[in-house]
Amino acid sequence: MSTQASRLEALMDAHHNGQRETRVIAITSGKGGVGKSTLSANISYVLSKRGFKVGLMDADIGLANLDVMFNVRADRNILHVLKGEASFRDIVVPLEENLYLIPGESGDEILKFSDATIVSRFIDEAQMLENLDFLVIDTGAGIGDTIQMFLRAADEVVVVTVPDPAAITDAYAMVKVISKIKSDLSMVVNQVRSHKEGTKIFDTIKKVAYGNIGADLNLKMLGSVRSDAQVARSVKQRVLVCKELSNIAPATDIEAIADTLAAKKEHKMLEARKEGGIGTFFKKLLGQF
Ligand SMILES: Nc1ncnc2c1ncn2[C@@H]1O[C@H](COP(=O)(O)OP(=O)(O)O)[C@@H](O)[C@H]1O
Ligand SMILES: [Mg+2]
Repeated sequence: MSTQASRLEALMDAHHNGQRETRVIAITSGKGGVGKSTLSANISYVLSKRGFKVGLMDADIGLANLDVMFNVRADRNILHVLKGEASFRDIVVPLEENLYLIPGESGDEILKFSDATIVSRFIDEAQMLENLDFLVIDTGAGIGDTIQMFLRAADEVVVVTVPDPAAITDAYAMVKVISKIKSDLSMVVNQVRSHKEGTKIFDTIKKVAYGNIGADLNLKMLGSVRSDAQVARSVKQRVLVCKELSNIAPATDIEAIADTLAAKKEHKMLEARKEGGIGTFFKKLLGQF
């Protein structure tokens, strides 16, 4: 059996007493180019290294970001599954131990799939993902219908911004929209000079948001990630920062964020709620049409 095949086998067999509950995290932003893919890829990698089973869904497939980052080819995506042209097993790309790429689809074509039989088949296929501890979705930027669909289906939405004023304005607009559909909302300020700068930017956004949205808003700072030119270089060289440059500041910052997400998951599991999980995720995702 090839390494890829045996890894897939491991993904599908490891039921671990049925105790797993998939936490779905959507990483999004108002403006493009703020670091969503960098964060999604590296957070997923760190979580997988901590022993969690992680699915990384590229829902910004138009840019084919994540397959480039991981230097793999993904020629089919969830749209092919919906069309019945491929099964989930065919499209999932094992990246590392515990880490699987799920090529997604950002186009609106996915919205056509409202047919009940297709939807139920898709949910059946999705059951293999029940073994995942985390599903991290790298969404496109902005608030299009498809993106909102992914955000709605997530347990937690992470809005990424950078210090530039245009990005902050767009991040704020994003928070405003998402706060209407999600109560668990957090923020990462990427490419900061210092954590102090990150906190200051977050505080400003939070203040304006609370002023306009009111007490219903539950917006938390997930962390800030310092800027380092080696990050941009690493993408060109197809090197994952947290894997191969793990000593640089942004890598340690992303590790801290991943650990916070892991701690949150443990906490939620202790709460033993019945909601959430991948079955619920796809039902929520597809039940909206
Ligand atoms: N902390 C950082 N420091 C320096 N460059 C960064 C950092 N985070 C992301 N970048 C760079 O910014 C660019 C955009 O990042 P990317 O993850 O592709 O953004 P998005 O997915 O939001 O479009 C890339 O060249 C990436 O390497
Ligand atoms: Mg991207």
